[in-house]
Order: sequence, then structure tokens, then C-alpha cells
Amino acid sequence: MNAQQSHTPVTVLGLGAMGRAIAGAIHRGGHPTTVWNRSAGRADDLVAQGVTLAPTAAEAVRASPVVVVCLLDDTSVRDTLAALVDPLAGRLVINVTTVTPKRARETAAWAAEHGIEYLDGAIMAIPEMIGLPVASLLYSGSQAAFDTHRGLLELLGGARWFGADAGLASLYDLALLGSMYSMFAGFAYGAALVGSEGVPATEFAELAAPWLTAMTGGLTGHAEYFDSADYTAETQSLDFNKAAVDTIAEAGHDQGIRTEVIAAVQHLIDHQIAAGHGKESFARIIEAIRPPATGGGGREGR
Ligand SMILES: NC(=O)c1ccc[n+]([C@@H]2O[C@H](COP(=O)([O-])OP(=O)(O)OC[C@H]3O[C@@H](n4cnc5c(N)ncnc54)[C@H](OP(=O)(O)O)[C@@H]3O)[C@@H](O)[C@H]2O)c1
Repeated sequence: MNAQQSHTPVTVLGLGAMGRAIAGAIHRGGHPTTVWNRSAGRADDLVAQGVTLAPTAAEAVRASPVVVVCLLDDTSVRDTLAALVDPLAGRLVINVTTVTPKRARETAAWAAEHGIEYLDGAIMAIPEMIGLPVASLLYSGSQAAFDTHRGLLELLGGARWFGADAGLASLYDLALLGSMYSMFAGFAYGAALVGSEGVPATEFAELAAPWLTAMTGGLTGHAEYFDSADYTAETQSLDFNKAAVDTIAEAGHDQGIRTEVIAAVQHLIDHQIAAGHGKESFARIIEAIRPPATGGGGREGR
């Protein structure tokens, strides 16, 4: 028996940059691989490597018990899968398209209704990282599917299952991406500030990268405040940080750059100071982000 015969056949729907990388990694891992894409011409390299291009999505689905879906967004997933109810019945869908937790849960419910096993995935990688140890993929939904197909999933990168609630993988994904985008926006503010005096951003990056890396050492300390909801300040208070952040914004105004990025931080600080918490830790800004207190646990008194 050759490698292809011993591996589960897999179909990949969607051959954008990410879908192509996924199909290539699965094929190289020894799985007979069938692909489909809405537009023609995306599968040429894969076909040259031995991947099968199906003429229709339905035929692609019928070729494999496992169907990986990697489309643009939730709407494209819904539109595509809605037309595939019959061929998908009894098969496993692994949807690695970026969606919200709510959308993932809705798709999981739709799948259950139609006898389709469902595993939701979130990709913490760019296409070039797929198949390398540095790639990390998050999963939630069917644990049986995750356990049974772990070898397949690990062809794409590190694989971790977060729970039976299909929304959890995207919840973590979007939380990590939200942190990342805010950090990049902060870096852009800093680069614009020094750039107002002609400093190249590349020169600034040489300072910012080690600075931000060192600052990530403080994340766990912040998290301990967040989890306890006890912000009794043993570190710098909101009042202290207000002075610093207001100065950063004033410098931006003086240098003629836009200050929305830092204004968002000012807003969070001011919100908590106005509520009477100026002597408490800066970490308390999370209480300006969390939903209003429901009166439970350590979240009272926001
Ligand atoms: N690229 C990344 O770095 C990265 C990283 C993490 C997660 N992701 C996620 O992976 C998913 C795919 O990303 P990508 O980079 O491959 O995107 P992409 O290159 O823009 O490809 C989008 C794919 O979706 C298809 N599509 C769009 N609308 C469709 C519709 N209405 N019906 C059927 N097919 C449709 C496109 O088909 P056509 O060829 O016909 O247009 C194409 O195959 C996204 O959810 C993205 O957020 C990407």
C-alpha cells in the first residue's frame, strides 16, 4: 500500500492564497487531494503536482470524506455550502475561513441539522507558514473529528482544540488578531511621530521591536489584574498614566499628526478616572472595555 492509499482523501474548497497553501500541504502529506475553486486558473500549480481539480463543488465534495473549506468570509461559506447539503451529508467539514464566533456557531448548528460533522478552524499563520512548525491553527467543534484527523491537521501546523463550542476557535483567533492590530496601530503612531521630524520608520523599528518585546513581559501581570478585578495599585496608577498618555497625545498635536490611536487609550483612562478609580492600576482600563457589570463574581463595582 502506498502513502496515498493509507491516507484519508481530502477535498479543499477555495483556492485563494491560503487554500492553495493548505491543499499543497495536505497533498505533500500523502492524502489524495481534490480541489475546487469558483474561478478557473487557480489550481494549475497544484494539478501539476498531482492534485485533482474537480469541475464542480459537488463533485469535489463527493471525492472525499473530509472537506476543508477556505473561502473569503462567512457569506461565501454560506453561499457555497448551502448548495452542497446533499453531497456533504455524512462527511466532515473543517471550515478554516475567518468568521466571528456567532457565525461559526450558526454554521455548526446548520451542519448538525443536515447530518454534517463540523470542526471550525482559525489560522494563526500566513500562507507561506503553512506546514511549518511556526504555523498555529486553533480548532473547536467536534472533538471526535479533531482526534481522528489530528495527523491531517498537523500537516498544516500546530493544532490545538479549544472545546466543543464551535465558536471558541474564532473567539481566540479574533482576540489575538485584535491585540495584534492594536499593537501595529500603536507602532504606526510612533513611526508617524518620529517621522514628523524626518526619522525613517525603519530606524524607529530598530528601537521599537526590542522595546515592545520587553513590554510583553508585563502581559501576565496585567492579566492577573484582569482576572482578579482587584486593581489596588501596586504599580503605576491611572492618574500617573493619564499624565504620560496626555503628553504623548499633546506631542502628536504639536507635531501635526493625527492622534486617534492614542486618543483611544486616553478615552479608556478618562472613563475609569471619571468613575472614581484614578488611584487604581492602569490595568483597570479593561473595565472600560468589558460589558457593564452583571453583578456576578469579581466583576462588581465597575
Ligand atoms: N492569507 C492569509 O494570510 C490568511 C491568514 C489567516 C487566515 N486567513 C483566512 O483564510 C481565508 C482565505 O484567505 P485567502 O488569503 O485564501 O483569501 P483570497 O486569496 O482572497 O481567496 C479567497 C477565496 O475565496 C473565494 N471566494 C470569495 N468569494 C466567494 C464566493 N462568494 N463563492 C465562492 N468562493 C468565493 C475565492 O474564489 P475566486 O478565486 O473565485 O475569487 C478564493 O478562492 C480567509 O477567511 C482569511 O481570513 C488568511
